[in-house]
Amino acid sequence: MLSSTFVAVFAACFSTAYSQYQGFNYGSTNTDSSPVTLEQFTSDFTTAKALAGTNDAFTSARLYTCIQAGTTNTPSDAFQAAVNTDTSVLLGLWASAGQENINNEIAALTTFLDGSSGAGLAKLIVGISVGSEDLYRISPTGIINNSGAGASPDDITNYIGQVKTAIVNTVANGSLVGHVDTWTAWVNGSNDAVITNSDFIGMDAYPYFQDTMTNPIGDGYSLFDAAFEATVGAADGKPVWVTETGWPVSGATSGDAVPSTANAQTYWDQVGCGLLFGKTNTWWYTLQDAYPTTPNPSFGVVGTTLSDTPLYDLSCSGASTSASSIPAAQATATAGAASINAAGAGNEGTPSTAGENASSAASSTAETASSSVSSPAAVVVVAAVTTSSAASAPTTLITKTSVLPAASASGVSASGCPASLSGTHEFPHLIVPVDKDSPTTAGGNSYNGTFSSTVSSIFNFDVPESDSGKTCSLVFLLPTQGELISSAFSLSGSGGLNVAQLKSSATEQTCYSTVPAVESNLGGPISVTPGNEYVIASGSCAAGQAVSYEVSATGSLALNYFQDSSAAAIGFYITVC
Ligand SMILES: *[C@@H]1O[C@H](CO)[C@@H](O)[C@H](O)[C@H]1NC(C)=O
Ligand SMILES: *[C@@H]1O[C@H](CO)[C@@H](O)[C@H](O)[C@H]1NC(C)=O
Ligand SMILES: *[C@@H]1O[C@H](CO)[C@@H](O)[C@H](O)[C@H]1NC(C)=O
Ligand SMILES: *[C@@H]1O[C@H](CO)[C@@H](O)[C@H](O)[C@H]1NC(C)=O
Ligand SMILES: *[C@@H]1O[C@H](CO)[C@@H](O)[C@H](O)[C@H]1NC(C)=O
Repeated sequence: MLSSTFVAVFAACFSTAYSQYQGFNYGSTNTDSSPVTLEQFTSDFTTAKALAGTNDAFTSARLYTCIQAGTTNTPSDAFQAAVNTDTSVLLGLWASAGQENINNEIAALTTFLDGSSGAGLAKLIVGISVGSEDLYRISPTGIINNSGAGASPDDITNYIGQVKTAIVNTVANGSLVGHVDTWTAWVNGSNDAVITNSDFIGMDAYPYFQDTMTNPIGDGYSLFDAAFEATVGAADGKPVWVTETGWPVSGATSGDAVPSTANAQTYWDQVGCGLLFGKTNTWWYTLQDAYPTTPNPSFGVVGTTLSDTPLYDLSCSGASTSASSIPAAQATATAGAASINAAGAGNEGTPSTAGENASSAASSTAETASSSVSSPAAVVVVAAVTTSSAASAPTTLITKTSVLPAASASGVSASGCPASLSGTHEFPHLIVPVDKDSPTTAGGNSYNGTFSSTVSSIFNFDVPESDSGKTCSLVFLLPTQGELISSAFSLSGSGGLNVAQLKSSATEQTCYSTVPAVESNLGGPISVTPGNEYVIASGSCAAGQAVSYEVSATGSLALNYFQDSSAAAIGFYITVC
């Protein structure tokens, strides 16, 4: 349901064609060190597509190596399996075993590309990752956790250049080449050269492993979101793809994190359905965990035995209910940067069968990193902003059927719902600032709403099926600073807000020059002052749909606030009645 409504518009800000892929991670060896065969890869990919509840949306595979396990530089059987099953691929080269191994990886890749199925593979390539968590493994936490050999940022940068050069004369020329690492590695400024040389940033993050922090499942969403936002903030505008995340179905407790199918379900619904699927390229960890021995912890959505019947419901039907319990973005990062550091704790998951080195790939424990990160917190952009869209006649809100008027400062509008969050309500699942002065810079996922003479913010909501037949009101809450407990805002100048409903949803990659067209202009309060609640517009709920609003400042207003739904809520919400 969610993904189908997210189709939208991915005019990219950086000329790269961009669309959303979903899938799982696939290692090259089984737990007994035997190579994963063509037959196994084929049934893995076929099973992923047929996975009950997913609407055939998991059609992409992330790989760790181009070399078939047990060989020197024979192309991975995963390549032919991808071609045979029309499975898109995020290719990987193992980059922690030195130059000679990189030569073998490149040889395996180019051999296949130059062969009879090369063109077939090339058109399925989403990107090519040079390395996987190599930088994590040389960091203090990687070392403490015995995570194995890694590689330096200089090495990775050098290998990325080699791969870019190697593919120029192949059918894969032009493929995006980047790197995958833990979010803690990405926010470490010493690794910036890797960001500069990457076309995309692959991020691995596992709240489960963040055992030095409070990490029960109830904080899973906010920990992941903080990691993701910190990475987006560090990414220099490069697209950030989620290359590994998940919650274990069984195994040992890690800090406050308890593995169970119920918790894995919650994490899937909140992080997968609520935040990622259809919006960000995502390779979940994972379909089937390390065969034939069940690892501890075990992340497989189907368990250890391949099957298209998952251990829990993957349909996202729980997403609406759990989404309303998602802390929009509070706690972990209360007002900003510093707390991202506090939220530190890398984590990572060295997937069992990750390596090309079959002999060393046996252990399946997803290793953790955790502990603190000393580097800068890198938070989101937020420069200043725009106004853009003017547009048409007022009226409709959430769907076409209703009317509704001007924002009132009273908290309730004639035919709308109350502004307060005491009843059913929806949080925005994505907030993206866009800046007229940096028209091609993607603001990325933000915790803050920012409105000024140059910056506006776009809010995406996913209205659940369960709101069908009800009334929805778009509301803006601005308590006084004194009423706020875990949030804050800065306000200067004077003026109001103007809200435009967009024809399609924004993404983290949306920048000023790619803001979707305006569907209708809803107006907004002429004057915004603290201590007020505003009902912007009301109408029948667009149940089962994604709706997106661009909010701009009018007059000389400059407002920047931390969206927070706890105690004294602040920000944009949809209330349902
Ligand atoms: C930051 O990155 C550098 C280079 O990869 C590494 O040597 C250092 O240990 C990292 N620091 C932390 C705290 O992870
Ligand atoms: C990894 O290292 C961190 C920091 O010392 C620690 O908190 C964590 O428990 C370690 N994990 C394992 C599995 O040793
Ligand atoms: C490789 O692709 C680039 C654009 O991505 C193009 O400019 C170049 O001519 C291509 N080179 C070859 C050998 O096809
Ligand atoms: C493969 O793993 C074995 C055993 O851990 C190790 O001795 C060997 O050096 C590794 N080879 C490479 C290329 O990493
Ligand atoms: C978000 O808003 C809070 C409260 O005004 C502020 O402290 C923080 O710096 C803002 N963050 C960004 C990235 O603008």
